Amino acid sequence: MTAVRDILRTMDYGLAPESDEHARTWLTAHGGGFGHFIAGAFTPLGSLFDVFNPARGERIARVSQGTEADVAAAVAAARKALKPWSALSGDARARHLYALARHIQKRERLLAVLESLDNGKPIRESRDIDVPLVARHFYHHAGWASLIADEFPGHKPVGVCGQIIPWNFPLLMLAWKIAPALAAGNTVVLKPAEFTPLTALAFAEICVEVGLPPGVVNIVTGDGATGAALVGNDDVDKIAFTGSTEVGRAIRLATAGTDKKLSLELGGKSPFVVFEDADLDSAVEGVVDAIWLNQGQVCCAGSRLLVAESIAERIYAKLRARMATLRVGDPLDKSIDVGAIVAPVQLERIKRLVEAGEREGAKVWRAPGPLPERGCFYPPTLVTDVEPASILAREEIFGPVLAAMTFRTPDEAIALANNTRYGLAASVWTENVNRAFEVSAKIKAGVVWINSTNLFDAASGFGGYRESGFGREGGREGLAEYLVAPAGPVKSAKAVKASLSALPGQAPAPSGDAIDRTAKLYIGGKQTRPDSGYCYAVLDPEGKAVGLAGLGNRKDARNAVEAAAKASSWGAATAHNRAQVLYYLAENLESRGEEFAARLGAQIGASAREARAEVEAAVRRAFYYAGFADKYDGAVHATKTRFVTLAMNEPWGVMGIVCPNEAPLIGFVSLLLPAIAMGNAVVVVPSASHPLSAADFYSLLDTSDVPAGVVNIVTGEAATLAKTLAEHDGVDALWCVGPRELARTVEAASAANLKATWTRMPPRDWTDEQGRSYLRRATQVKNIWTPYGE
Ligand code: NAI
Repeated sequence: MTAVRDILRTMDYGLAPESDEHARTWLTAHGGGFGHFIAGAFTPLGSLFDVFNPARGERIARVSQGTEADVAAAVAAARKALKPWSALSGDARARHLYALARHIQKRERLLAVLESLDNGKPIRESRDIDVPLVARHFYHHAGWASLIADEFPGHKPVGVCGQIIPWNFPLLMLAWKIAPALAAGNTVVLKPAEFTPLTALAFAEICVEVGLPPGVVNIVTGDGATGAALVGNDDVDKIAFTGSTEVGRAIRLATAGTDKKLSLELGGKSPFVVFEDADLDSAVEGVVDAIWLNQGQVCCAGSRLLVAESIAERIYAKLRARMATLRVGDPLDKSIDVGAIVAPVQLERIKRLVEAGEREGAKVWRAPGPLPERGCFYPPTLVTDVEPASILAREEIFGPVLAAMTFRTPDEAIALANNTRYGLAASVWTENVNRAFEVSAKIKAGVVWINSTNLFDAASGFGGYRESGFGREGGREGLAEYLVAPAGPVKSAKAVKASLSALPGQAPAPSGDAIDRTAKLYIGGKQTRPDSGYCYAVLDPEGKAVGLAGLGNRKDARNAVEAAAKASSWGAATAHNRAQVLYYLAENLESRGEEFAARLGAQIGASAREARAEVEAAVRRAFYYAGFADKYDGAVHATKTRFVTLAMNEPWGVMGIVCPNEAPLIGFVSLLLPAIAMGNAVVVVPSASHPLSAADFYSLLDTSDVPAGVVNIVTGEAATLAKTLAEHDGVDALWCVGPRELARTVEAASAANLKATWTRMPPRDWTDEQGRSYLRRATQVKNIWTPYGE
């Protein structure tokens, strides 16, 4: 036996093993294998697959492969449980969630050890980070269950939610998905990742233990095919997915046009930016957390180190020294820093990517500490001399590999940080508070940690910009994903059969006095002729031509996007300025009310009284959003002590808006104004059959100080223009009101760049109040974590 004095002489680490006896006993009790958890009970075993402990390469359990029929049974159970569960009072649901939280805490040792056995993550992390956060999520959302009626008046649960989670934080991702869903009154079918299903099955037992009504939570195990069956099930109302961008794309395609609500939390290649005035020793510790937490298998891992050129060599040297002290080994050893990679296939992927980077000329430095002889291990790795175009700078490696690059100026740092298709997170290190906030505002990411990294809390939203997905998890913004806003009452709108029969070739040739107006397009603050040179006749309900409108095509739509992109300073204008411009617009619309009413009457055959009422509603709407321009505040979330977590409502940037065919004025105004009030520049496709009211808006925009390019209007066929906007990488978000076929087209077309789309808005009378949901949809939330204190 080693004597204490020997240890003191060498200062070597002894063994500090966490006992796995309890977890092994639990696994042995389930030695025959696990069925699915459906309607409150485990099903008989299906066809089984093996689950491995990646640190030792040994099989630890066998789990059923979920079939389409299993998924259907689970969805049916969730459907049956939905009505009684959502009818419970918020307080009653809260009690269930509290009970889950408490029982998770009672079982924390079992859950932490099981997680480390199954996933390979160090017990220090599963015990001190994962499981406490799991409990925190259930406690936090228990509170929400009681508060929803007050805080989200009139909202309803979405329904049956299909939830598909990855293997990197198996139980934590389950909590992120299940806690808000249940709080809001939904029921769920959750599919854990095939590598790591065990803690989800242990959680199923806890559901039984606390008496959760059967069917509220269902768990079906299996691989991607099981996930695809859940996505494809017609009786699922929402899919929430966390995982790879590739599968996220497939899910976007599979759900296109189905009315399923969708939230995607996908990959990342997050920048870790160190300025020369940063506290370098703290930054080095930050890097350790950023890229070696969970072996770098973290969607928001700070995997790109961007460092000021003047301090690059110093920080690399400090990093190498620190990396040499990192201990890689048995995840159940409490003094281990880096555990096992989840599976051989993931280990191979990491090796392949690093070798490809090496071939491109990057310099690879691997930490010298010993690796265990068996199991899936990869050493902490620093790669320098990485070019921005290198595979290591672009691809999500999902392993303990840090790719380092240098910059000279803050602008270059921001450009490099944003030089990625992702936008999940960022970490910014500087002692200069002005620079910290400026850089945080300019980096396109859903979460920014200032002088800190990888912080999570149930009260803060988490989720990405761009190809990192859409939707948030956690906080008020995350809860909203599991609720449906009240739809206004549906009145039988006057108007207008939604027909496109007025498009060219089908329209009677307009002639003489019938034509009092030829509407061009409006791009970059100028009226322009359509690229095609064609116009189409705008008909009244009797089929008589009342004007001509330009037939915009793909090129016009692209020009409009370019003009909108150039108007990005609108988003940086003060909210007060935007409010003033919108008030001016409202006044000008009011003063020209008679003219707008007459145009409306002529197009849709409304009586003078009806037309005036619609114009008045449009004016009210303009005042409403002018008022809101500087009042749609963000929040300061109550997360951890010594941190201010700012939830900022940021504009998307460039938005596409395809208006409903009916309600040509109020529909147009109701969609356009919240978008520009929040600072977006927009490309609007007005009602195809009745575009003249939108065309009358051109002069209103000119006289109301709306800067050129903030509003661009392209008339023409909705389907072509909507598809172009959906495909365009320069459009950050797209609203599209129209029939299911149109929704299918734009959602499928948006799968390539994964922009946020909003389609199939509930049928409504556009003259009714619209509330905040349009403002919520016109923004995305960025959470900025700022520490305070020395
Ligand atoms: P994956 O995206 O294939 O797996 C995530 C989940 O989706 C699993 O539950 C899986 O069974 C399920 N799934 C797979 N195909 C599906 C389909 N067609 N329809 C529905 N569900 C499906 O991720 P994978 O293959 O395990 O890892 C590959 C790479 O993805 C990693 O190297 C990493 O780069 C990235 N990844 C990112 C994660 C994140 O949190 N952003 C998490 C896991 C992986």
